[in-house]
Amino acid sequence: GAPDTRTPTGAETGVPKIAKGQQGAYLTTANGARLRDTDHSLKAGPRGPVLLQDHHLREKITHFDHERIPERVVHARGAGAHGVFVANGAAEQVTRAGFLKKGRETPVFVRFSTVLGSRGSADTVRDTRGFATKFYTDEGTFDLVGNNIPVFFIQDAIKFPDVIHAGKPHPDREIPQAQSAHDTFWDFVSLHTEAQHHTIWNMSDRGIPRSYRTMEGFGVHTFRMVDDAGATVLVKFHWKPKLGVHSLDWEEAQLLSGMDPDFHRRDLYDAIEAGAFPQWELGIQVFPDTPEETFAGVDLLDPTKIVPEEMAPVQPIGTLTLNRTPTNYFAEVEQVAFHVGHLPPGIDVTNDPLMQGRLFSYVDTQLTRLGGPNFTQIPINRPHADVNDMLRDGFHQHAVHAGVAPYRPNSLDGGNPFPAGDREHAFVDVPVTVAEAPKVRASPASFDDHYSQVRLFWASMSPVEKEHIVRAYTFELGKCYHQAIKERQLQCLANVDPVLCEQVATGLGLPVPQPTVPPAEVQPSPALSQVGGEWPAD
Ligand code: HEM
Repeated sequence: GAPDTRTPTGAETGVPKIAKGQQGAYLTTANGARLRDTDHSLKAGPRGPVLLQDHHLREKITHFDHERIPERVVHARGAGAHGVFVANGAAEQVTRAGFLKKGRETPVFVRFSTVLGSRGSADTVRDTRGFATKFYTDEGTFDLVGNNIPVFFIQDAIKFPDVIHAGKPHPDREIPQAQSAHDTFWDFVSLHTEAQHHTIWNMSDRGIPRSYRTMEGFGVHTFRMVDDAGATVLVKFHWKPKLGVHSLDWEEAQLLSGMDPDFHRRDLYDAIEAGAFPQWELGIQVFPDTPEETFAGVDLLDPTKIVPEEMAPVQPIGTLTLNRTPTNYFAEVEQVAFHVGHLPPGIDVTNDPLMQGRLFSYVDTQLTRLGGPNFTQIPINRPHADVNDMLRDGFHQHAVHAGVAPYRPNSLDGGNPFPAGDREHAFVDVPVTVAEAPKVRASPASFDDHYSQVRLFWASMSPVEKEHIVRAYTFELGKCYHQAIKERQLQCLANVDPVLCEQVATGLGLPVPQPTVPPAEVQPSPALSQVGGEWPAD
């Protein structure tokens, strides 16, 4: 392949080598001049004043003044680790992606995070966790930017600023720091009832994981896979931890938030450094790519719905092992930039309206967070595949591109027309039919069922898990100042299950409302029985 013109060595460009640690024999300025003293500023006599001409003083302080970059607008608090992904070959049947071929080993970097807290917030708060994986494949980087909960709060990315504004600290008091702002959060999820499914997962033990090592991960959206012959299937990605799924108890989580706010970060790094490498199986649920994009009555483009594993088993396609901690948190964990659109040949997006908005949002926010358009040149973000793009110039450009003709085809720099055939190419259009339809701001009717899967989740819980869920709703709703908001959320719980609703209402000392969504609408659709699936028994 073409040489990577964006990662030149010092020798090629004349750029001096920058010491990676503090071990050099001499301290130098940023320009390499040796220094004798870094503890005293240059003064007119030992009692001053300090002289403006002290370049070393100004350089040292100026650089320090600019050490911080904006924290991520969401998922600001996180920890990351390096590792390897080894494919077992099972996915070869459905995708041409080279890194999923049997025995292929791909270096990876994973970042785990909470969603709402700021960079310095506590690890063990009740929240969704991010589980973002960068696969440095030799066909281009694949980012699987997922969460530890398989559904999302909203169905359309246009509501993302709203749900996050509702969850982040209140604008007046900046309270609470680390978990959902209570009045606005419950106001949002009780008004935008598609959020009820994600919310019950948060109120369950899934909202307070024991460790990053004991979390499942989910791609959430449905993806499309394309094989060598161009045949397609729809898939959902699942990470299953080898250690099993474990959670904290709420009292433990609260105590840890005070005693060791770095609990999850410490646990991850201690385990890896002790050689207890955490592992996950990556699996896919596979669905036929039909024009309806549904499976067993579930709309596969609706990110608030799961497909129960009883109906579409998760098939393992490879194993992830995290085996190396970062050398430098800022360089690696803080500067890593994931993007849902980083896809290798053989994996593609679908029309899920949440996913479509994410395709815009990540690069947009990273342009600010990482200071301009060249952040793929930051070491942690550099692809391991050869890069030969025609992206030029811009802030923080580190490549010294050669040649005069950054366009294709060209007749000056050997820029030949693209070779025929698309086997190894990403972003090859899958010829799915796009319906001829009026331009509307609307969602399909299938997105209107906001309760059946919440009931499914509640029904699948053991008695002790149900007890924890009731306790969590009661505790969190108990923090709301506005009674009308508590009452509206109780109304939502009445639509989920009478026992759940009654127990939370009793805990809050409020009356038990009647359901407003008739039970007939919250039964499994007939299509579920057609494929022989069963709803888990209570
Ligand atoms: C960051 C997951 C929906 C915007 C993240 C991160 C994860 C994640 C794991 C942290 C990445 C990291 O560690 O650096 C998800 C999942 C979603 C979802 C699973 C739904 C299924 C959305 C939507 C939007 C969005 C709908 C916007 C329309 C962002 C932004 C960041 C982010 C702006 C910060 C990225 C950065 O600063 O590098 N998301 N997200 N997310 N997400 Fe999402």
